[in-house]
Amino acid sequence: MITLIKGFHDILPDQSSKWAFIISKARNCLERFGFREIITPIMEKTELFQRGIGQATDIVEKEMYTFTDISGDSLSLRPEATAGILRSVVEHSLLRHEPVLKLFSIGPMFRRERPSKGRFRQFFQINAEVLGDNSPLTDAETILAATSIVHAIGAKDCSVEINSVGCRDCRNTYKHELRKFLKPSLDHLCPDCQRRFETNPLRILDCKESACIAVCKNAPLIGEWLDADCRDHFGQVKKALESIGVNFRVEPRLVRGLDYYSRTAFELVHSELGRSKAVGGGGRYDSLIGELGGPDISGIGFGIGIERLAMNLEDQGHSFQKEIDVFMAIIGEKARASCFELANQLRKNGLSVDARYSDMSLKAQMKLADRLEAQWVVMVGENELAQGQATIRNMKTKEQFLVTLDEIEQRVRGEKS
Ligand code: HAM
Repeated sequence: MITLIKGFHDILPDQSSKWAFIISKARNCLERFGFREIITPIMEKTELFQRGIGQATDIVEKEMYTFTDISGDSLSLRPEATAGILRSVVEHSLLRHEPVLKLFSIGPMFRRERPSKGRFRQFFQINAEVLGDNSPLTDAETILAATSIVHAIGAKDCSVEINSVGCRDCRNTYKHELRKFLKPSLDHLCPDCQRRFETNPLRILDCKESACIAVCKNAPLIGEWLDADCRDHFGQVKKALESIGVNFRVEPRLVRGLDYYSRTAFELVHSELGRSKAVGGGGRYDSLIGELGGPDISGIGFGIGIERLAMNLEDQGHSFQKEIDVFMAIIGEKARASCFELANQLRKNGLSVDARYSDMSLKAQMKLADRLEAQWVVMVGENELAQGQATIRNMKTKEQFLVTLDEIEQRVRGEKS
């Protein structure tokens, strides 16, 4: 047997209806906020992610699935959606006609992380981006859009954590202060953080190693180093969130794992899973579009992990199986051909119908109808057929009726009792 790649997962039929539910709710929410769908390839030139996400991030340093194509190009499976969406926007000059773009995308991402509960190497994201609007109201509205998805789906115990990571200038001043603070304890940091000390010291604040957590306990916070403009922007975002009733908590240590953020950064955190397994996260990026060859404008967006949403719903014990209207139980060989025709006639008339044409006892067929959550079972035997009749059973009330074949549809639709 050839098995799955480690960290990848199948979405089996009993799960796929839950996925369809999540995706349709998310699509609905995002369209309500004016987002339109964009679908970009799952593979891009490696350089896009190096430039977009940042060389010194864990994602680019060690988590990408990268290979050299026969032509010699280095290609990577996308570890996130933002860089690809922006590449597409710039390549097709979409901003030329619409100075503000609101786009969403849903699909698989790939990161070679250590797999664990809720952490996969292929996972699905709902991703949204607003490009070209730097008003703090847009930050608040984007966070509202993210929380609306989580609420529409019925995910429980998720809260919003926000922070401002400042602009490049305040971040540079802060990095300097942070390095000054960390330097005496450099030997106590984990090997990854010792490296991050030079390349990306902010990430040290987010490290899960207990030694690094202990060192960072009294570290200076970025909030103390924001310049007046960034502080004002953050203040307005918070005020706007309050004005539209979004509950949030300022988390002064929230820094995010991708390098492109400036100012607003946020995460949707489940009370038990914590920030290391956030349900969603995002923020503003001021220079990413320009760095990818586009105009010098700002954007804000978020990604929500579908697996993590699905896990949340699982814990609540919902059933998402799609009901079918009719299961056709065939009694005896001679009824088979007529049942086949009848099933397909009912489908043609718009009902969802299932049937099995291989030999099966009535008991087994009734069991299957139950498992498929059929609303009605139409039982058809040779004798009934001869009189143009069938027995139909309401699977909820357990009532049975003998009806003519013409009446089946009306009964199922509740037009006749
Ligand atoms: P991110 O925080 O890296 O942000 O990922 C967003 C969400 O994707 C996470 O909160 C989580 O639910 C899910 N996720 C990430 N990695 C995994 C994994 N290994 N297994 C399962 N789920 C995972 C971004 O990707 C940014 N591009 C979001 C964004 C859009 N920022 C601005 N625009």
